Amino acid sequence: MAVVESNLRHLLALDGMSGGQITSLLDRAERYLPIVGREQPPIDVLGRRIIANMFLEDSTRTRGSFTVAAQRLGAQTVELTGKGSSISKGESLLDTAWTIESFGVDAIVMRTSAAGGAALVAANVNVPVINAGDGRHEHPTQGLLDLLTMRQRLGDLRGRRVAIVGDIANSRVARSNVHGLTALGAEVVLIGPPTLAPQSLAGLSPADNITVSHDLDEQLAALDVIMMLRVQFERGAGISSDYHELYGLTATRTQRLPEHAIVMHPGPMNRGLEIDAAVADDPQRSAIRQQVANGVAVRMAVLAWALGE
Ligand code: NCD
Repeated sequence: MAVVESNLRHLLALDGMSGGQITSLLDRAERYLPIVGREQPPIDVLGRRIIANMFLEDSTRTRGSFTVAAQRLGAQTVELTGKGSSISKGESLLDTAWTIESFGVDAIVMRTSAAGGAALVAANVNVPVINAGDGRHEHPTQGLLDLLTMRQRLGDLRGRRVAIVGDIANSRVARSNVHGLTALGAEVVLIGPPTLAPQSLAGLSPADNITVSHDLDEQLAALDVIMMLRVQFERGAGISSDYHELYGLTATRTQRLPEHAIVMHPGPMNRGLEIDAAVADDPQRSAIRQQVANGVAVRMAVLAWALGE
């Protein structure tokens, strides 16, 4: 249901996707990686299609990489952002989406602050809709790029233990990762202060392999992946003055991870708050730049799939 509604291929959420569906998108993304790395030339599978990038919330990585992904497949994009569009004049989400649909675009990629906004648009237009982040709900292409990165570094994710640390309550990245990771058989531990990582989050997915912890130090030695999240002040996250001391990923904490464990962050980072610069830039452990490159490949895979290629 999260994926295909009517006869169109929407990608609205990882919730509801099977391990097999996720794996097939990751496999396709992996085949596109040499194009992203400029070892192979772009391909023309979406030649002359037009994809609308409708970004009603700020974005650097997601918007830029959807544009590059479309262009690497031979498609063109039309870019619509909240601040420069009629959304800032009070136009509703659906009126904006209907306007873009009336241009005759082939697909809509969209980001909105409204949880459920992508599903609402998908139910009301006749082109594929790809959710590029809807409020605190989901960010499925980020989840997929994170899964691809983990798979490249660690192989099969079954039985792997992944910590997601920080502002879970406000994070659509965390929600998509929880669904994707559990679909692939990994264990997830959500770590943060009780205000940002309430126990209720253990019920995010019916799978019984999600736990919540408020003690980062106690978890470090058993992790395969530690994914740090930005504190989302713009969504009202409040933190105490000891946040960095209790939940910041410092070089000292990193030394207590198993040798093979990797560090991830979806970006943008608050360096010195949730993650220290020395850890973010650690050439061995940090997978942060690999995440960004994988984002282009994943978005190519999703666009090609959504447009039936
Ligand atoms: C995230 C987002 O917008 O949800 N960023 C991203 O897409 N890479 C996370 C964040 O803003 O902290």
